[in-house]
Amino acid sequence: MPKKTKIMEKLHVLDKTFAISIPEAEIQKQVKRVADEITRDMEGKNPLFLPVLNGAFIFAADLLRQIPIPCEVSFIKLASYQGTQSTGQIREVIGLQKDITGRHVVIVEDIIDSGMTMAHMIETLELQNPASISVCSLLVKPDALKVEIPIHYRAMDIPNDFIVGYGLDYDGYGRNTKDIYTLTN
Ligand code: IMP
Ligand code: MG
Repeated sequence: MPKKTKIMEKLHVLDKTFAISIPEAEIQKQVKRVADEITRDMEGKNPLFLPVLNGAFIFAADLLRQIPIPCEVSFIKLASYQGTQSTGQIREVIGLQKDITGRHVVIVEDIIDSGMTMAHMIETLELQNPASISVCSLLVKPDALKVEIPIHYRAMDIPNDFIVGYGLDYDGYGRNTKDIYTLTN
């Protein structure tokens, strides 16, 4: 008998309840589509993929296994800390191991919400004069966007709700699922 995969309809993470909203099969289908687009565009360009930790670790792993052209991968992270002045949060890109000068860079993100994180990331990377910067996001919340940023590749658009799973977290938990879940309460 063929094995049936059981879909978990509900997910409890800490004090919150989530309901399944994007099943694994749909995620994988859209990841493959985006991977094909990138493969077509980046062929012969020796791209450098920069997945953003922690959220993009699962997406990046699935995406890159569907991209058969020569490329490099180097994970980066955004460190946030409070500034000493009242300017609020300062975010710094850390972990960049590679010289990106003259390279075709593809930033791989889990989700673009307000777009502030990505805007900052692009601004920081541009200082190092890459040949090009492309943005690839698993998810985009179009209704939440507050700044104009280029989004070259996106797997899926979602409503302005809070989600977890497939790398995305609620307070550090809930990253380790194959499906994506939406907050219900
Ligand atoms: P932005 O700067 O507002 O675009 O925020 C992007 C970051 O916020 C993402 O990289 C995530 O870490 C986090 N984020 C935004 N929306 C969600 C969500 O629905 N679930 C989990 N994390 C989220
Ligand atoms: Mg993130």
